[in-house]
Amino acid sequence: MTATLFDGIGLLYTGDPEREEIQDAALLVEDGAVTWLGPAAETPGGADERVDVAGRAVIPGFVDSHAHLIFAGDRTAEFQARMSGEPYTGGGIRTTVAATRRAGDAELATHALALVREMARQGTTTVEIKSGYGLTVEDERRSLELATALTDETTFLGAHVVPEGVDADDYTRLVAGEMLTACAPFARWVDVFCERGAFDGDQTREILTAGRRAGLGVRVHANQLGEGPGVRIACELGAASADHCTHLTAADVDALAGSGTVATLLPGAEFSTRSPYPDARRLLDAGVTVALATDCNPGSSYTSSMAFCVALAVREMRMTPLEAIRAATYGGARALRRTDVGWLRPGARADLVVLDAPSYVHLAYRPGVPLVHQVFQGGLLLQEDIQNPPSVVVL
Ligand code: NIG
Ligand code: FE
Repeated sequence: MTATLFDGIGLLYTGDPEREEIQDAALLVEDGAVTWLGPAAETPGGADERVDVAGRAVIPGFVDSHAHLIFAGDRTAEFQARMSGEPYTGGGIRTTVAATRRAGDAELATHALALVREMARQGTTTVEIKSGYGLTVEDERRSLELATALTDETTFLGAHVVPEGVDADDYTRLVAGEMLTACAPFARWVDVFCERGAFDGDQTREILTAGRRAGLGVRVHANQLGEGPGVRIACELGAASADHCTHLTAADVDALAGSGTVATLLPGAEFSTRSPYPDARRLLDAGVTVALATDCNPGSSYTSSMAFCVALAVREMRMTPLEAIRAATYGGARALRRTDVGWLRPGARADLVVLDAPSYVHLAYRPGVPLVHQVFQGGLLLQEDIQNPPSVVVL
């Protein structure tokens, strides 16, 4: 077993609430996990090799807890129309459904893998992937089976929209019955787009409780386009996360604050649909755990960049840089109920992002700049970073 010491860390953001920032730090990795971290002056002996990051900042790998990566087709025209004043309604989902149903497995898998790699290059080491562009028993099942090759965090979103020409209650019964049975073996989570024009409160509850009975954890697309019952249902059912949370009443905020449900904010969606951003301050001030995620999908948020979401959260949602990096790492892990990722502390997976910057604050201070120098997942360098091979010194 090789013990690798990362040192020369100018600023270590750990994501661990007990000790979030360490200046002039070092970190020891053994067998893919962190075994020690602290001030460089206190470094224990016993390392076999050393990676000197030369004063750069290090953060935990981003945890992107909300992404829709199994799809085919393109919605550039819809985006262009929106930028000319058309509103976003979610109706474009059906365009992607048609293209996804036509696509072969290999095409869907190759495209999703390319997106996962694109994310990894930008520092995302854990990603959740939803189905939801199939909307038939077989197309949802194969979407999830393809997703399982890319992540453990797979989410059954058969209830994304009601397919064209199908009765909403009949479709709800299908999702909660035969479709769930076919999909559950490939899913860890169940999700519903609870929104006017998608699924109402009763339909949402029916599908989520059926999913929960089948052993799946609960998450909800809630209150994205308007106020509604989504957030309260999420809290009531013990969901890991209520996602979007753009239009909240005081009762919704209270429900979140009194629950173990994380509010996952997806500012890429507001950016790309030119909509008002969620009120992050109100949630944080109420004591709600907040996560940030990309919502990467071809319609409402075609970004794979967590750094971009951090910058939006800081600039547009008045989160401090510390709150935003916390939400993009620790918060994402809480939204997936994971304790092995999203932070760096003894026992955690050694998912490290070395930034070409002295501090994580630069993620917001230098928006749009590719600041990711190297990414290590389970202690191993992502090999796509061949331009930045680490200078490993064997001790
Ligand atoms: O999270 N809101 C529902 N689903 C996606 C959008 C999907 C799409 O427009 O294709 C979202 O924003
Ligand atoms: Fe989404």
